[in-house]
Amino acid sequence: MLHRHFNCILCLLRGTKALFILSTIHQGGDVHLECLADGVPSPLLSWVLPDRSVLTSTAPSIRHITMDTNGTLHMSVTLPSDRGVYRCVASNSAGAASASVRVHVSSLPPVIHQPREEHLLLSPGRPVYAHCSARGAPPPSLRWRIPDGTLVRPSQFLHGNLFVLPNGTLHIRGVGPKDLGNYECTASNAVGADKRTVRVEIKGGAEGARAFFVVAMMCVGCLLSLGVVPNISTASSCVFV
Ligand SMILES: *[C@@H]1O[C@H](CO)[C@@H](O)[C@H](O)[C@H]1NC(C)=O
Ligand SMILES: *[C@@H]1O[C@H](CO)[C@@H](O)[C@H](O)[C@H]1NC(C)=O
Repeated sequence: MLHRHFNCILCLLRGTKALFILSTIHQGGDVHLECLADGVPSPLLSWVLPDRSVLTSTAPSIRHITMDTNGTLHMSVTLPSDRGVYRCVASNSAGAASASVRVHVSSLPPVIHQPREEHLLLSPGRPVYAHCSARGAPPPSLRWRIPDGTLVRPSQFLHGNLFVLPNGTLHIRGVGPKDLGNYECTASNAVGADKRTVRVEIKGGAEGARAFFVVAMMCVGCLLSLGVVPNISTASSCVFV
């Protein structure tokens, strides 16, 4: 969810011994460290990583860290273990110069963007959209707990009318009495969790909706029995239930 690009530019000027730059990046982000060097003959670039391994144009990658032909270092999906000092070395037959950047990898517990509590009062048959999006580093994962306790993740369908969209929004196609209750969204990552609750209610009140539901069920039952035993008194008793 959080993909921030950080560019650090290290300028190696002739005669400059070392330049130190600090950079804080969020865990799970993407990092580009650029190294510009100047010299005659044009210098060769290499990077020394915090664990002292070396990237060069002939050995341009280690794990998730790669070096472009122009010397830019890329780290995809940074980890806490990526913290440390990265040193770019430019060398030619006349000598060498280097510059370093200290990389801090920060973590951020999830924070849900929407209010902690929300009440949705809907007419029966209306669609429900309950939003849930969060920031954090590493990017948080989301899940919804629906009133019966089932956990639903983004891009998952349930019971034919409930779907969690890829962006975390919970959607119920046509709300009915069985959909009443509390829906709880949790955003979590390695460093924490955040929650919000959306209460779904139906206009006319839960009691009214339940009574309507019971009558509908009984009428279905009595229409079936009406089919088996055509009896006027059964039908009229249904009307007054
Ligand atoms: C190096 O190449 C990358 C693309 O591969 C580009 O984004 C970056 O700006 C280049 N850096 C320099 C210093 O030219
Ligand atoms: C998620 O996507 C749906 C449909 O594309 C959209 O209606 C909704 O606003 C989005 N949610 C957020 C939090 O942006």
